[in-house]
Amino acid sequence: MSTIVSSWNDFDPLKHVIVGRADNTCISPSEPASKAKVPLDSPMRGMTGPRTLDTVEKANVQLDSLVKLLESRGVKVDRPTPIQFNQAVVTPNFMTGSMFGCMPPRDVLLTVGNEILAAPMSFRARYFEYLAYWPLMRQYFDEDKNFRFEQAPRPELGDNSYDMAYFDDHITEDILLERTAKLHMVTKEYEILFDAADILRMGKDLFCQHGLTTNRKAMEYLRRHFPNHRIHAVNFPGDPYPIHIDATFVPLRPGLIINNPTRKLPEPQRKIFEANGWEIHDAALSAHTEPPALCYSSVWLSMNCLVLDHKTVIVEESEKAQCEQMDKLGMNVLPLAFRDAYPFGGGLHCATADVHREGTCEDYFPKQVPGTRIDL
Ligand code: GLY
Repeated sequence: MSTIVSSWNDFDPLKHVIVGRADNTCISPSEPASKAKVPLDSPMRGMTGPRTLDTVEKANVQLDSLVKLLESRGVKVDRPTPIQFNQAVVTPNFMTGSMFGCMPPRDVLLTVGNEILAAPMSFRARYFEYLAYWPLMRQYFDEDKNFRFEQAPRPELGDNSYDMAYFDDHITEDILLERTAKLHMVTKEYEILFDAADILRMGKDLFCQHGLTTNRKAMEYLRRHFPNHRIHAVNFPGDPYPIHIDATFVPLRPGLIINNPTRKLPEPQRKIFEANGWEIHDAALSAHTEPPALCYSSVWLSMNCLVLDHKTVIVEESEKAQCEQMDKLGMNVLPLAFRDAYPFGGGLHCATADVHREGTCEDYFPKQVPGTRIDL
């Protein structure tokens, strides 16, 4: 039996990855967690139901071209099995009218070494999304005797899990900015909640974004679950909808990170990077002033790149300034059209989940300083 699952970070040479599919994706009904995520002025507010076939087909064309590009670079690619997402989710604690989709595996699957941990996500519509990945997980389990196939505690997602008054008729973006800067999120500390895309894996250190989809209890869970790792809490004031770290704080190789210039890592939290000689550069501005139609994400998907190794990165092709910046930072940039896939769950990093990268669990931060560690 050979090793199938092994990945410790987002920049070592990529060998095997999961790329999502757009099939059957729905715009799911409004619910406590997503109300606080869909931007206030978005036409998606109040909209629900399956996405149109033409948009699904266009997204799949771009996802398939990502697969071709990866395969041409020697990366093995697996795909999830889409289920019928246009069906209600009913549990003892909640009901909601539909599921979401399986375009962004990054939200669901956290790969840490030989383990893939399925996240306890806070959106009710995403409660059963892991099922689209279970055929692959079973296969890895059968083929790799060291693969740890894990599931974080399943959350209740009843009304106790959320600040049900977070959204009212008087909410504005300024209020959201104030609240998120003070770490007042729609998700409460009632139970463990996180999306895997809020966790930045850097060898022995896991940096977790405290935001709308990941709470502090999740970090405490990760501390106990990964006792050989160091767990850090980071947050990025300036983002009214802080979810998923990968359009905000993106490492390109050991020692080099780009940070969204409108969501800067606060000074006390920068210390661990400075103490260990890491450079943090402001990311280039996006080429766009608006995301594509019916997209949950911001224009900052410009930063949401897929690093193939310490010198190679895939970037959305219209993001010329981002491509140029990465080129100047010493990366070989592979541009790829991907904006048709954005509305289905994000950019190039979101659309993928690591199965195997070369390399081992390195200590990139031997000088630990207070500021981010949840236990220091
Ligand atoms: N958090 C994803 C975005 O900025 O769109």
